[in-house]
Amino acid sequence: MAKFKVYVIDDEDIIRDGIKAAFNKKYRIEGFDTAEKGIEAIGKKAPEVTLLDIGLPGMSGLEAMEKIKAIDDDIVIIMITGMEEVKTVVSAMKKGAHNYIVKPLDMNELEVTIDNALETVKLRREVRALQEKYLEENVPCFIAESEAIQNVMEFVNNIAKSPDTPVLIQGETGTGKELVASAIHYRSPNYKGPFITVNCSAIPKDLIESELFGYEKGAFSGALPGGKKGMIEEAEDGTLFLDEVGDLSSEAQAKLLRFLENGEISAVGSTKTKKVRTRIVSATNKDLATMMEHEEFREDLYFRLAVVKVAIPSLEERRADIMPLAKFFIDQYNKKFGKNIESISPEAEQLLKLHKWTGNIRELRNMMERAILVCAGTLLEPEDLALERKPKGEVENVLSGNGKFPRLTDEGLDLESTQEELEKYYIEEALRLAGGNESKAAKLLKINHHTFRYRRKKLGIENE
Ligand SMILES: Nc1ncnc2c1ncn2[C@@H]1O[C@H](COP(=O)(O)OP(=O)(O)OP(=O)(O)O)[C@@H](O)[C@H]1O
Ligand SMILES: [Mg+2]
Repeated sequence: MAKFKVYVIDDEDIIRDGIKAAFNKKYRIEGFDTAEKGIEAIGKKAPEVTLLDIGLPGMSGLEAMEKIKAIDDDIVIIMITGMEEVKTVVSAMKKGAHNYIVKPLDMNELEVTIDNALETVKLRREVRALQEKYLEENVPCFIAESEAIQNVMEFVNNIAKSPDTPVLIQGETGTGKELVASAIHYRSPNYKGPFITVNCSAIPKDLIESELFGYEKGAFSGALPGGKKGMIEEAEDGTLFLDEVGDLSSEAQAKLLRFLENGEISAVGSTKTKKVRTRIVSATNKDLATMMEHEEFREDLYFRLAVVKVAIPSLEERRADIMPLAKFFIDQYNKKFGKNIESISPEAEQLLKLHKWTGNIRELRNMMERAILVCAGTLLEPEDLALERKPKGEVENVLSGNGKFPRLTDEGLDLESTQEELEKYYIEEALRLAGGNESKAAKLLKINHHTFRYRRKKLGIENE
């Protein structure tokens, strides 16, 4: 295994050289005599551990520590301090230093301190590896090939890290709002806690408050005799996903606002409050701005829910994802139905690429499920797809009636071969309409017979 890197930032040569001489065999040591130089080096390549002198010329050790933590919070920092600087050490420890050692340095003591620090590094890495493994095994796969969705997922990974920040997810139906909500949960430090979804539109308005906040025994007629925990509490130390949050009753809105403001809930019929730590991720298809204008949704609640907003692009805005998703669904449904579909025919691929997926990924998934079920061979053909051959949308109709010509999207398109196909299509159509009579077919296309024949042969079209 590669040696761990330890940087020493100290203005005293004797300290840097002493540490180097003592540990160069065991760790990779590099020394810097100012904080500025050390920080620059850390920006380029982060070490596992940094030994940082408190009393440095120029930027102080304390200031340097904050800068280093900002570059990479995982770097373990050990402060080097003189006896007179003990107060500063206390504040360095509060701000995230791992440990400290006092000058004059005792090399044995220093070795133990560094080894302990590296133990922390190793443990952190192990935890992270375990989390990754857990994610791989438990979290639904998220296909993200297009740049548009990759940017969204990068943002999601970042915001997931702060486990208490509320997130509002916006996106058309079927774009993956619930999947993104679960990604936020599983990529957060709360990943082992519960992830619970409440669909606010599926619960009668007068019950939603007790559903979210719970109720005391005898709170209302029909209530369970023992009372009931609410979903916010059920999701404690995890994430509560409030789907269709625009459908909350005004009472539930008021209570949710209170919870988001001070972390307290009170069950229906109870005067007691209780602190609960649950992250709230919400989503809606509705236009909350209009709802706020009509006073159907509280503006103050909106701002609390939407501390961070994630907008998921529609499939139309990330067409590069269509084929990877289609292939992903083939794998999934092959397994589910015990089928063995290996690939998609070029014609079927064109149909998939051309279709307007107004129902987004859900529509694509449902269609693939059906296609795989009905497909008889190992190749998915156009007839397996319950799609009109005629593509929807204006551009394709102008181009062709057979759905062969792809729309120009962010993926780009091969103009030469598209032109060729276009020509081929019209020559074949003209021949069909003219009953195989070439001069009539040429007239239909307003070119002379000679040119028609030349192009027909060049494109390899037979005239039976
Ligand atoms: N990037 C993706 N990779 C793989 N599957 C996806 C992806 N995005 C969405 N799906 C799948 O598509 C379906 C719809 O996703 P989801 O339920 O999260 O959408 P939604 O935005 O919540 O829809 P609605 O607004 O209708 O509630 C689900 O089966 C989900 O697993
Ligand atoms: Mg949903």
